[in-house]
Amino acid sequence: MSRQRVAVLISGRGSNMAALIAAAKDQSYPAEIVLVLSNKADAGGLVTARDNGIATEIVDHTPFGKDRVAFDAAMQTKLETHCIDLVCLAGFMRLLSPGFVGLWQNRMLNIHPALLPAFKGLDTHRRALAAGAKMHGATVHFVVPEMDAGPIIMQGAVAVRPDDTEASLSARVLAVEHRIYPASLRLVAENRVAVVGDHCLIDGAPVPDPVALIPQQ
Ligand code: GRF
Repeated sequence: MSRQRVAVLISGRGSNMAALIAAAKDQSYPAEIVLVLSNKADAGGLVTARDNGIATEIVDHTPFGKDRVAFDAAMQTKLETHCIDLVCLAGFMRLLSPGFVGLWQNRMLNIHPALLPAFKGLDTHRRALAAGAKMHGATVHFVVPEMDAGPIIMQGAVAVRPDDTEASLSARVLAVEHRIYPASLRLVAENRVAVVGDHCLIDGAPVPDPVALIPQQ
């Protein structure tokens, strides 16, 4: 079976991107990372991508001002040039236009550092601590026009410890992210994920319990 061609969209350090690249180094992995696209020329992840011999593209959002549609169209041109099958958002800090999202329906994934639908948006770890959450984690989901929403493909949970700081909690969640993103992309690339209404089915079954999935560290 030919491997699915994946673009990873980043804005920053790209540690999730690196986890996807590492997983895809295995030739039996059903996807290959063929493009890393950033809206920021100084994104740290671009260096990692280039070091791994992966094509990079930069589409700077600033000349487009508030015109999201034109910015997204410029990205779409790059994605088409590289014959992309699947898109993974990995710390990509731009809101996407509904038209662009529609072009990639059920073919664009995002990772969010919280157990959605809790703690959408930014500063998830600080807010989880402030709320006294006992469980926290990360979610991989298909992208829909609404931010940090869309059918959940996989979640990984961590227990919040009484002495956790934002940094310690964030580090533990990030380790989970680096496991669930490659695992999720594998499932999608193997066509094992079906979207039924607002939910995903994996091999015809509901998405597994996040606590069962990730052994507590
Ligand atoms: C991750 O926490 C991801 O969940 C969120 O942004 C962060 C990106 O980190 N969407 P990195 O660039 O992948 O290291």
